[in-house]
Amino acid sequence: MHSSSCLRNGSSSIRVTFVTSDGERHETSGKEGDTLLDVVVDKNIPLDGYGACEGTLACSTCHVILKQEDFDRLPNKPVDEELDMLDLAVDLSDTSRLGCQITLTKDLDGLEVTVPMDLMTCVWLLLAVAVIIAVGIKVVAKLTCGRYTIKQDLSNKTVLITGATGGIGMVAAKELARKGASVHLLCRNAQKAETVCEEIKRDTGNDRVFVWSLDTSRLSSVRDFARKFLATSHPIDILINNAGIAWIQERELTEDGLEMTMATNHFGHFLLTNLLLGTLLFEVIRS
Ligand code: FES
Repeated sequence: MHSSSCLRNGSSSIRVTFVTSDGERHETSGKEGDTLLDVVVDKNIPLDGYGACEGTLACSTCHVILKQEDFDRLPNKPVDEELDMLDLAVDLSDTSRLGCQITLTKDLDGLEVTVPMDLMTCVWLLLAVAVIIAVGIKVVAKLTCGRYTIKQDLSNKTVLITGATGGIGMVAAKELARKGASVHLLCRNAQKAETVCEEIKRDTGNDRVFVWSLDTSRLSSVRDFARKFLATSHPIDILINNAGIAWIQERELTEDGLEMTMATNHFGHFLLTNLLLGTLLFEVIRS
């Protein structure tokens, strides 16, 4: 009704409504012969980035989606260049056209078109989603990774752990003590180990935490420890070969003529495991 009256009154304006992707409606009008891009420019319709190439068919920023009946009554069909640009459009549909190629005629009075999200907005949205996911993963990882809650009661277990004066070794020793295990800290730095031992006892209320001197970079130290420990006839339920060094700048040899990192991280533990293996296996068979 409104369209007829508009035209009946002698006005050549043809009503057009632009609906943005967030539902905002811009009701306006143009003259016969105007393109939709002309209407957007002339009426200052706030559509960010719309018509970037000014109708030269070098972009797809003037992409609009029409209702099927409006699409069918457009007088001109898209040329190949328009179809090429439409291929690059975001949110392409079967009734998509480029606004700079739609010329208003009286028949199109009351035309309503949807303006999909522009490419940059999509990119920003994707970036925002990616950032949210990344932050989420980081938070979840911080809260869960590397944390293991032992449910089992370990009060009848004996644990030996190397390198327990810091990092994962110290945390593991504390958690095992918290679960009631007898924990033996095998450490190179006795003074530091004593401090850690007292802290674990205080924090967990478990007094069965012990310090032993062991330097895995020295095979004689490993043998010495194994001899003393085995002499106590303590059982061994769990052996954690945790001690390790890294980032040594200069090649360094141990007193055994072994490369320092390999000796500390691997050879010492290999010997330690072998010397304690009989007792370890005995506990496995017994349980
Ligand atoms: S404004 Fe660039 S193709 Fe229409």
